[in-house]
Amino acid sequence: MPGKLFPLGGPVPERDVVDREDFIVSLQTRLVEGQSIMLAGPRRIGKTSLANEVLRRAKNEGFYTAAVDFFRLSSKRDFAVSLINACLENRTGVRRTFDNLKDRAKSIVGTAKLTLKLEDLEFGIGFLHDEQNDDVLLDYALDLPDVLAKHDKKSMVILFDEFQDASRVADAGIYKKMRSHFQNQESVAYMFLGSKEGIMDTLFGSRKEAFYRFATSLPIPPIPENAWIKYIIKKYSDRGINIEYEIVKEILTRTGGHPQDTMLVCSEIFYALLEAGENTITPGIVRLGYDRALITLTPVYDEILDELSQRFQVRDVLKRIAFGKNIYAKNINPNEAKRAIDYLIAKAIIQKAGRGSYTFVEPMFQAYLLREFFNPGY
Ligand SMILES: Nc1ncnc2c1ncn2[C@@H]1O[C@H](COP(=O)(O)OP(=O)(O)OP(=O)(O)O)[C@@H](O)[C@H]1O
Ligand SMILES: [Mg+2]
Repeated sequence: MPGKLFPLGGPVPERDVVDREDFIVSLQTRLVEGQSIMLAGPRRIGKTSLANEVLRRAKNEGFYTAAVDFFRLSSKRDFAVSLINACLENRTGVRRTFDNLKDRAKSIVGTAKLTLKLEDLEFGIGFLHDEQNDDVLLDYALDLPDVLAKHDKKSMVILFDEFQDASRVADAGIYKKMRSHFQNQESVAYMFLGSKEGIMDTLFGSRKEAFYRFATSLPIPPIPENAWIKYIIKKYSDRGINIEYEIVKEILTRTGGHPQDTMLVCSEIFYALLEAGENTITPGIVRLGYDRALITLTPVYDEILDELSQRFQVRDVLKRIAFGKNIYAKNINPNEAKRAIDYLIAKAIIQKAGRGSYTFVEPMFQAYLLREFFNPGY
């Protein structure tokens, strides 16, 4: 939503990207060299925002760029059209070039300019008039990035978001098809993003899979604390709000610097302040904003907890970790406890902090659990 002080619930606009600067530079360096990259990470940690920032920078440096989000697509044809549109926009500057041409092809007039721009890509009126078979269209789309880049003497970076959904959009054979098209493309580097880490790891790490070793998998680092501090202070002070350094640190301790949780708490603090008609953030306001944020997050966390609880012993182990108790209790089989822990680590819910000790990736999820287990149904 425009005008919101702290952006929430989707990729952030350029001015609100709190930098993982070193990581962005390292991604860029690899992509520029033509290396493809895979980034897998849990929901809401800023994968799409990060990738969009990398694309913006690549574009500024003269690269062609394109982004396709599988989450939004529902068929093979959708995928093909979306990729074609994203590619052609680099040349035409028109957002939905393909649909545009197809609509207007029927009336003959008004297409000359666009058609001429695309003449060399076998993209004439004939191509648009024939009802292309989905597979033919997809083959064309999958070749287009390299064809276009070569024609225009450019390098190209392509982002596939929620890549694990490709098999839902098309069929399981889609990965094999893509790989066969991509592997000889010299002018294109790909960035694959996914929020289902297990599936992504299998897709790129298992010998049996088509994308085995096609891309380098990199862990997504947290946003550095200093970057957050600078950003938060600036945001509030732009609105004439005072906040002390210690209080910013307090916010970050409570959120663990988790991208969306931090934005949400800052946002709730802002509204609480407006309501109170104040312009200085006090510890009391922070508590209020934090509590409200936690309420907002409850439905999301309910769902996560439900899913995790399907697994044997996981709920119990979660409870123990949340309360800081020893996981290897008398009544739990150690192998089962270990299995539950491995599952929680794979799901990026907890991380190892030392021997036999674990912390929550999202401190607010821990706060939710404490409340939930202490006072179920609250
Ligand atoms: N670099 C960042 N700087 C500031 N805030 C961020 C950043 N990245 C993410 N956020 C916060 O997290 C929210 C989610 O970001 P984004 O959609 O990029 O995450 P994602 O990992 O792609 O999530 P999803 O799994 O839902 O696709 C944003 O709306 C914003 O509040
Ligand atoms: Mg995303």
